[in-house]
Amino acid sequence: MKIVFAKPETPTTGTYVVCVHEDRKLTAEAAALDKRMGGQIGAALGASRFKGRKGETLDILAPHGLSVRRVVLLGLGKPADLGALRVQRIGGSLLAHLNRIGETDATVAVDVIADATPALPVIAAHLAYGARLRGYRFDKYRTAEKPEQKPSMKTLTLGLAGFAEARKLFAPLSRVADGVDLARDVVSEPANVIYPQSFAERCKELRDLGVSVEILDEKQMAKLGMGALLGVAQGSARPPRLVVMEWRGAASKRAAPIAFCGKGVTFDTGGISLKPAAGMEDMKWDMAGAGAVLGTMAALAGRKAKVNAVGVVGLVENMPDGNAQRPGDIVKAMSGRTIEVLNTDAEGRLVLADVCWYTQDRFKPVAMIDLATLTGAIIVALGHEFGGLFANNDELAARLEAAGKSTGERLWRMPLGEVFDRMIDADAADVKNISADRAAGSTIGAVFIQRFVNGVPWAHLDIAGMVWSKKDHALTAKGATAYGVRLLDRLVANHYEEKAG
Ligand code: BES
Ligand code: MN
Ligand code: ZN
Repeated sequence: MKIVFAKPETPTTGTYVVCVHEDRKLTAEAAALDKRMGGQIGAALGASRFKGRKGETLDILAPHGLSVRRVVLLGLGKPADLGALRVQRIGGSLLAHLNRIGETDATVAVDVIADATPALPVIAAHLAYGARLRGYRFDKYRTAEKPEQKPSMKTLTLGLAGFAEARKLFAPLSRVADGVDLARDVVSEPANVIYPQSFAERCKELRDLGVSVEILDEKQMAKLGMGALLGVAQGSARPPRLVVMEWRGAASKRAAPIAFCGKGVTFDTGGISLKPAAGMEDMKWDMAGAGAVLGTMAALAGRKAKVNAVGVVGLVENMPDGNAQRPGDIVKAMSGRTIEVLNTDAEGRLVLADVCWYTQDRFKPVAMIDLATLTGAIIVALGHEFGGLFANNDELAARLEAAGKSTGERLWRMPLGEVFDRMIDADAADVKNISADRAAGSTIGAVFIQRFVNGVPWAHLDIAGMVWSKKDHALTAKGATAYGVRLLDRLVANHYEEKAG
């Protein structure tokens, strides 16, 4: 879909979108349009339940006095609540509506929104951003779709006097949306297409954006002593990879970076501690943490963020096999600590043990954030509404929570602590990868990873409930959500990026 910012002109084809505030009161411009339409807008409002609530729509077909096919009234909600995120969601809902009714070409009359905060160019840019985000669809394997089953929208035009300004504001947002779409692509692909090597190949595409991409194979990882990650990988016919992506956008290329670590289990059968068959197909998205890191790096490099950032993803497939690791096996992590693997299905923490240790050891980051679909328990606790946030640093936690609020990728802080840490002391090794029972399952995963972060300011995001959605949301159609990309991009913009100028 093409997105165009242009001067405000009444369109002659397609759909004309006119915004209405929650009180149904028409702005002077909308009232003038109503007059041209012989009072049809007022009549339609009177004949319907349309209130102008956020994202609500009302179609007026074949309007008088205009040559467009239809006018769509678009609710903005209460003027006082009109923040950037709200506007994005309205843009997303609008696009879904236009696709549903089979429109190909729509023009939004942004200037009709009088006296608005944020300013009109900001509103236009965020409407477009929301539409862009909602417009994603993973349909490359649908070979028999009829035209009427496909999304119809071809061009979305935003009409306003400040179109040049809006276009400028939209450019970096569009690059973030590119990162979101990249993450959705890799997460949506099945595990016969995305496996460690092919995921690593996708990472290489970031070189075009100026990201340096380094790929470590199993020999190099063995040399580094990554016994925890390699133990998970050894049951798979697909060899593991570790990918290091570096974006050096700060004035000083040598300044310490912010680091993102991703769990990239391209398929999680559970290994010898095999998962039940029902729902196992979901485990194709057990690499969504790595997908979010890849998407974030693409977003930062795409919009040329003035920050040094590294993304490190541990890519493995967790399979049962004659060569798979067994419950009770003891492996040695890169940190030198030994791990008793009591359950081969608690594999994400094993991967992150080596990824996090390697990352802090090599890059000495100012902060390190790992993203992982780590536990089913976090879904029990927080459902599909919040990611679980664990942090050894209150400032970092607060920054992440704030970025979550403003992007709508919300986080809820969960506890760490000594009492939990003691529960993973092992009999036969330094640490075990599960505790004695199911209590505090997500925290147990977090304190395990904490043993491998070496005290750097660190946060662990358990995103198991957030990366895949079974229903549509304003900014994401059902499927892969790319949760984490917009969140981390915002975190960087707010706190780790040098200001322009
Ligand atoms: N990838 C799973 C976590 C998961 C489960 C994500 C369901 C999304 C939906 C992880 O590797 C796992 O298997 N965790 C175990 C840990 C347990 C063995 C301590 C779990 O949550 O059951
Ligand atoms: Mn598992
Ligand atoms: Zn897993």
